[in-house]
Amino acid sequence: MNLRKGIILAGGTGSRLWPVTIPVCKQLLPVFNKPMIYYPLTTLLLAGIKDILIITTSESIENFKNLLGDGSKFGINLEYKVQMEPKGIAEAFIIAKEFIGENSCALILGDNIFYGSGFSELLLNKSSNHNRATLFASYVNDPENFGICEFFNDDTPKRIVEKPKSFISNWAITGLYFYDQDIVKIAEEIKPSGRGELEISEVNQIYLENKNLEVYKFSRGYAWLDAGTNENLLKASQFVQTVEELQGLKIGCPEEVAWRMGLISSEELEKLISDYKEVDYATYLRSILNDT
Ligand code: TTP
Repeated sequence: MNLRKGIILAGGTGSRLWPVTIPVCKQLLPVFNKPMIYYPLTTLLLAGIKDILIITTSESIENFKNLLGDGSKFGINLEYKVQMEPKGIAEAFIIAKEFIGENSCALILGDNIFYGSGFSELLLNKSSNHNRATLFASYVNDPENFGICEFFNDDTPKRIVEKPKSFISNWAITGLYFYDQDIVKIAEEIKPSGRGELEISEVNQIYLENKNLEVYKFSRGYAWLDAGTNENLLKASQFVQTVEELQGLKIGCPEEVAWRMGLISSEELEKLISDYKEVDYATYLRSILNDT
């Protein structure tokens, strides 16, 4: 599908994190040592996407702009749009209609963190193949709490059920979605659900019924974290801290990924490091630059 465009959905109410999210948007909260949005942003960079729209609330948009700017420091283009009310994940494609144009488009939820060896190759492979839509599924022990995919024997998806009451499988649909250029049309066709939201599950159902959906199962070397509750936010921070301290490499560092992917030069990274002064984050960036 040759993905060139990506959306980070970073609005919502964040009610499960209240009162913390009364003054601050969830996706700006720290996950260990970085704002949460750095992780999905880095995931899109790893997928080779350089044109990214951030959708957030009217109260938070300036904070995101302040943090990330126009993306030039990462060698990418960043745009911003407001979602007036949290009317569902699939509304992102309607808000992004002009941004997407006739292109295929990835969507990542702003509170989803992915980690695994070979992740970039996997994403680049999935973003450049001939699939019409690709979702990523992760094995969970509590399928009753997720959108769950049931598969046929050949691993093609059979059905996706939201929070199934009786067991169908352990494979949860994660918050990373790749769609072809039909996505805006499909999002415009669906109707709000009983809870008044444009449901992403309905979009996926349409691709599935048309036999245009691949659901890729992450192997056991991958971790997927949804940092939307107090417990999960803490777990995500602990996970990032543990992996970073063991490996000496950072997870979700967009400056590093931009540099490794050739989006910014060593001189540009050098300039960012000097802007950041002598903080740990800058020391880390200097160490990877000097390592080569
Ligand atoms: P959720 O975590 O399901 O919702 P939320 O962030 O509003 O949190 P809570 O349930 O605690 O009230 O949303 C998943 C992600 O999608 C999250 O990053 C917020 C974002 N989102 C929007 O930006 N707009 C929306 O309309 C919805 C439903 C979600």
